[in-house]
Amino acid sequence: MEYDVIVIGSGPGGYTGAIRCAQLGLKTAIIEKYQALGGTCLNVGCIPSKALLDSSEHYYNAAHTFAEHGIKLNDLQVDLAQMITRKASVVDQTTKGIAFLMKKNKIDELHGLGSFVDPHTIKITKEDGSEQIIKGKNIIIATGSKPMSFPSMPIDKKRVITSTEALTLKEIPKHLIVIGAGVIGAELGSVYARIGSKVSFVEFADSMIPTMDKTMGKELQKSIKKLGADFYFSHKVTKVENTGDEVVVSIDTSKGEQITLTGDYCLVSVGRRPYTDGLNLEAAGLKTDARGKVEVDNYLRTSVPHIYALGDVIRGAMLAHKAEEEGTFIAETIVGQKPHIHYRLIPGVVYTWPEVASVGYTEEEVKQEGIPYKVGSFPFKALGRARASMDVDGLVKVLAHKETDEILGVHMIGARTADMIAEAVIAMEFRASAEDVSRMSHAHPTYTEAFKEACLAATDNRAINM
Ligand code: FAD
Ligand code: NAI
Repeated sequence: MEYDVIVIGSGPGGYTGAIRCAQLGLKTAIIEKYQALGGTCLNVGCIPSKALLDSSEHYYNAAHTFAEHGIKLNDLQVDLAQMITRKASVVDQTTKGIAFLMKKNKIDELHGLGSFVDPHTIKITKEDGSEQIIKGKNIIIATGSKPMSFPSMPIDKKRVITSTEALTLKEIPKHLIVIGAGVIGAELGSVYARIGSKVSFVEFADSMIPTMDKTMGKELQKSIKKLGADFYFSHKVTKVENTGDEVVVSIDTSKGEQITLTGDYCLVSVGRRPYTDGLNLEAAGLKTDARGKVEVDNYLRTSVPHIYALGDVIRGAMLAHKAEEEGTFIAETIVGQKPHIHYRLIPGVVYTWPEVASVGYTEEEVKQEGIPYKVGSFPFKALGRARASMDVDGLVKVLAHKETDEILGVHMIGARTADMIAEAVIAMEFRASAEDVSRMSHAHPTYTEAFKEACLAATDNRAINM
């Protein structure tokens, strides 16, 4: 069988790319090694983690804020098995939705491990060991990523776990030690802290979510501390040992001392690695770089021009929506269109509560690049809407160019900022100034008023409600 395009991997990048190829009239096949489509994001990433984040947040509110709202509950309990069952059903519905979309777009869905035989030929090895050979004029590598670990912290999937196992635990950990307070650590650490686990974060850097604007990490730490969590920043894990019923984590402190933490589970969330195992890239004449990523040019083409790559397996942020944009980009490039991705304006969101959402330059980056800038901030506690809902933690911080007033970066922490950041993306795509946004009407009372007020503060230090 010969296709115009073969996509290897059915995550957000692969399936979006396949659909766009089909929409453009290209005969397309998608290969997925697992039975369910959707990749990391739908099966063990974005969707299941958000399902558990929502369930645990409902419980936390019922236990801690409902009484103040005048709602009394007796005998409140967490049914972890039901939480996990609901999560599994959300995943099931979502992955079946992708299978429906493949059929609707007449994309051939093939299951098995895809590997290169030569630059145009792919062998699919199925679960029963049988093989199928297909050929493609163009090939898209969309094989994603897997959790990373270090030899000093061997994953046993029982007590020393990755995000994948943390989404299917059978008991609520008494003490969960989280190595790495990045995005996964913050999200899944929150899930278990909300439903009763003691959570200790051990982080190499000096704050939570250290790659985001520093203000966000500081504010997020304050909120997560309220859940009873402990933080060990600038600490280095030297050894993780499963002793049977417990995990012992040995740590070098920032002062050069050694300490140990003992818990019943240890979540290793120290990043993810690009995944190309079994692809046999050499047969296509391809190599990965020192970090295991498939190298691509500005058109997302590898060194073999008809082979493209996208998403977590290439450079850039490991985000579902980044992979999706790249899927569309490649499909349109194949048919000769001239698409564009503005990488700096891909938002990043951490789905804790409060949520953290960010787009554009951080304050640390503008300083480092010597860009003249000004800052406008507005706290959630000054918003009527936030007081009404008791969601007063958070702030919006706007960075604008000192001379032109163009918005350079927007960093938000607070209720519903995951959705609010879209307004900042649109404003920045149209190169709005802080004053432009400050002169647009924002419905009252909403959380979005915090963005308008922060823009007023950035324009001319003239926020109204503070
Ligand atoms: P993937 O989704 O990893 O898909 C790759 C697919 O390729 C897999 O299905 C794999 O089985 C298949 N494959 C690999 N090799 C082969 C082969 N040789 N043959 C056939 N098939 C193969 N991102 C967000 O934007 N928002 C979030 O809220 C978010 N939450 C996350 C939560 C967690 C716990 C994790 C782990 C990740 C989260 N991410 C989130 C990141 C997001 O999941 C990834 O950025 C995204 O899935 C990358 O998409 P992709 O298409 O590049 O690859
Ligand atoms: P991450 O890169 O966000 O965080 C890893 C953290 O571990 C960093 O803060 C790092 O300093 C720390 N670390 C590394 N080695 C360490 C060590 N030896 N000891 C202590 N700390 C150490 O990676 P994470 O959280 O594993 O997530 C992987 C990817 O998945 C991210 O790139 C992210 O983009 C994506 N993701 C996105 C989500 C979202 O968009 N909401 C949610 C979850 C994951």
